[in-house]
Amino acid sequence: MDEIHFSKLTDVGGIEVLRGRSGRYNDFVYTYERPTLDLLKKNFFLRDSLYLVADNGTVFVAFCSIDRDWWENNFFMIREIIVDQNFQKQGIGETIMRMCIEHAQSKGAAGVVTETAFENIPMQKLCIKLGFKVWDNPQWKEGVTYKLLFQERHN
Ligand SMILES: CC(C)(COP(=O)(O)OP(=O)(O)OC[C@H]1O[C@@H](n2cnc3c(N)ncnc32)[C@H](O)[C@@H]1OP(=O)(O)O)[C@@H](O)C(=O)NCCC(=O)NCCS
Repeated sequence: MDEIHFSKLTDVGGIEVLRGRSGRYNDFVYTYERPTLDLLKKNFFLRDSLYLVADNGTVFVAFCSIDRDWWENNFFMIREIIVDQNFQKQGIGETIMRMCIEHAQSKGAAGVVTETAFENIPMQKLCIKLGFKVWDNPQWKEGVTYKLLFQERHN
């Protein structure tokens, strides 16, 4: 993983790197379409948003974003994460997600939440590995919501 470079997106136009990208796990396909990109563009300008992109000097490797657009006071949401298929299972998803979590912690957040599909086993395993717990989200039942409370974090 030595040659992977992680950088903070400073230009909202950089979000376009996600357009049309997709990830899959068995029959589950996750594709970046316009509503997602529009929301990312809107939230880019919120206070304390962090959008990280990873590359290897030549090609796109990964993206992860975190923002404050969540209804519970002082929680951050990991809104998107994707690692290019050619670079998966090398610890890059874990690294880039950890960077976003640490950012939220550095801003004094109470915790971090994220949402994923029932079928998305890689993301669910990643969340558990990072100390998230399944949370019964009253506002979203179409998938699994994970929550990480900083005062309960031990890893
Ligand atoms: C989820 C995703 C970001 C993981 O990225 P990654 O770089 O491959 O993950 P890592 O190599 O850092 O793995 C970290 C942990 O995630 C879990 N994990 C990752 N890939 C997995 C897989 N195919 N099956 C089961 N668990 C997996 C494991 O717990 C792993 O820890 P381990 O290696 O000690 O077992 C990646 O699969 C992806 O981009 N998927 C498509 C996009 C997507 O679904 N995004 C989430 C939308 S909510």
